[in-house]
Amino acid sequence: MSRRRAAVLAFAWAFLISGTAGTRANDRPFGVGREVPRSEVAQSDLTVFPDGAGLPKGSGSVREGRDVYALRCAGCHGPKGEGDDNYPALAGGRGSLRSSRPELTIGSYWPHATTLWDYTRRAMPYPQPGSLSVGEVYAVTAYVLYLNAIVSESTVLDERSLPKIDMPNKNGFVRDSRPDFTPKRP
Ligand code: HEC
Repeated sequence: MSRRRAAVLAFAWAFLISGTAGTRANDRPFGVGREVPRSEVAQSDLTVFPDGAGLPKGSGSVREGRDVYALRCAGCHGPKGEGDDNYPALAGGRGSLRSSRPELTIGSYWPHATTLWDYTRRAMPYPQPGSLSVGEVYAVTAYVLYLNAIVSESTVLDERSLPKIDMPNKNGFVRDSRPDFTPKRP
C-alpha cells in the first residue's frame, strides 16, 4: 500500500470512528432524571378548569364547611369572611367594582366557583396547603359561597353541581379583542 493510500485510508477510518462516536455520545442517556411514577404525577396534577374538568369525585355541605372554616380559615379571613388589614376578605364587596373603592372578593369578583375549589385545595390554609381532604374542600367552598349569599344553607356541593353555580360577576369580564400571537419557529 502506498504511503498516500495508507494516509487516505487512515483519515477515512478516523472520520468514520469520530462520526460513530459522535452519534453514540448523543444517543447515550446523560444519567440525569428518572421516570416519574403515576402516583407522584397525580400529586402535582391538580388543575381544575373553569368548566369543572379535573374536579375529583366527592362532596361537602355548607354545614360541614362551617366547622372546617371555623377551625382552618376564620383565624385569618375573619368569622364571616370579612378579612382584615393583613388577610383578604372572602365575602362582601358586591356592587363595589365600579366604585372608587372596589372590593374584590369571591362574591363580587371571581367568575367561576371552580377556581375557589382549585385555589383552596392547592394554596389554603396558608400555612398548611394541601392538608384538606377532597370532602373538606367541597365543604369549605360551599361555606364560602354561602357567606357570599350565592348558595343556601342546605346546599351540598359535588363535582357535578359546583361547575353549575352562577357566580354574580361571571359576565363582568371582557375578552381581549387583540388576536393571539404565536411566534413562528424559524
Ligand atoms: C394563616 C392565615 C390564613 C389561613 C388560616 C387561611 N388563609 Fe386564605 N389567605 C391567606 C393569605 C395571606 C392570602 C393571600 C395570599 C396571596 O395573595 O398570595 C389568602 C388568600 C385566600 C383566598 C384568595 C382570596 C382572593 O380574593 O385573592 C382564598 C379563596 C382563601 N384564602 C381561602 C381560604 C380558606 C378556604 C381557608 C381555610 C381552609 C384559608 N384561606 C385559610 C391567609 C390565610
